[in-house]
Amino acid sequence: MANASLQHRRDLALGSGAELFYDTPLEIVRGEGVYLYDRDGRRYVDMYNNVPCVGHANPVVVQAMAKQQATVNVHSRYLHEGIVTFAERLAGLNHDGIESVVFSCSGTEAVEVGIQIARLATGNRGIVCTDATYHGNSELVGSLSYLGNEPPENSDVRAFPFPERYRPLEEGVSEEELCEAYLARVEACIENLKAQGPGFATLIMCSIFANEGPPDIPSGFMAKVTDLVHREGGLVIADEVQSGYGRTGLWWGYETTDFLPDIVVTGKPMGNGLPLGATAAKKAFIDAFRAEKDYFNTCAATPLQAAVGMAVLDEIERLDLIRNAAEVGDRLTRELKDRIPVNNKIGDARGYGLFIGVEMIKDKVSKEPDAKLVLSLSDRLKDKGFLTSYSGRFNNVLKIRPPLVFSHANADEFLSAFDECMGEISA
Ligand SMILES: Cc1ncc(COP(=O)(O)O)c(C=O)c1O
Repeated sequence: MANASLQHRRDLALGSGAELFYDTPLEIVRGEGVYLYDRDGRRYVDMYNNVPCVGHANPVVVQAMAKQQATVNVHSRYLHEGIVTFAERLAGLNHDGIESVVFSCSGTEAVEVGIQIARLATGNRGIVCTDATYHGNSELVGSLSYLGNEPPENSDVRAFPFPERYRPLEEGVSEEELCEAYLARVEACIENLKAQGPGFATLIMCSIFANEGPPDIPSGFMAKVTDLVHREGGLVIADEVQSGYGRTGLWWGYETTDFLPDIVVTGKPMGNGLPLGATAAKKAFIDAFRAEKDYFNTCAATPLQAAVGMAVLDEIERLDLIRNAAEVGDRLTRELKDRIPVNNKIGDARGYGLFIGVEMIKDKVSKEPDAKLVLSLSDRLKDKGFLTSYSGRFNNVLKIRPPLVFSHANADEFLSAFDECMGEISA
């Protein structure tokens, strides 16, 4: 139930315009596993929140947090076994070129550190990103957001159209030719940065382009673009804030989409809700960053972050959540794909493990995006007890991104509700 007086107080206390989901906003008071509960005790299957990756109120994580707080929590300028072990473990989960870690408190900070590392390593400033991305909200990182066709003049940022097969850059060409077309756009961005002064430091990409869709990527693009960046003297940053930590059915999104980044950025799920971000790279890059920047972040690289971060990793392994993401996610995507030929409003269904997008359109010929339909669909799903939202360049993609404890049974219940809602909408 909406609480009008709480909404009014919220407007005063937080300022009007702080976004709320759904026509009738939810007041959530409790979470457990994959479920959230509102003020009236109504239960919802959470299919949106990736931060509580090992489940809301996970008791092992809660206990680790409480135990560490009850023991000691200090800033990072003291020796502490826990934080070193956590950094070693995080680096060890990555490919061999990733050796050392800088901890921070958010994805935004971790991306910003990644860009600074790339700038120091290359001596250049220029950044290439996609035209429909989001990597965070600071002035620098926010300047990469949703640039569309016309990035700002005199900036160090250039944007290329994100690689996709549903609305391809060129129609009627082979997948290989499509891949080359996107690569040519990246190359043009790099040449332009070199010609105009900033030079080329880095290409930053979410490993599955989560905020862009996530699209089906023309095969071979990620490895080829990585080669291109290296030939041009730049570094590749993999933003794993959404795609990391088992989301795709492998530890890292870059394993799923098959490339080897120079810098890996993580955030959201790392602390299951405790603010925790990390930027990892080879030791020489991190050493150069430390030498130049004297980076310090008061609440980062603390015993508390380490204890919670280790508990999250333990839980992912103990509960076999990466396999779960692969199995449940792949099956749910398949079932949603089966609905494409029988429903004119479903343009596409695609995903990587438990990050799934269902593209809603007005009709199959025009493929015109239908953002209104997605809003209505996610409101109806909410009324039936399933929390989703929207994403994509046109806000017309139903976004499914549950905690990794989401089960086959949850998927079955969701599919029934989805069919009912689609039936109601087309009635
Ligand atoms: C891909 C990606 N990178 C970075 C961020 C920024 O993370 P944070 O909100 O923790 O700063 C986000 C946030 O949504 C994101 O989606």
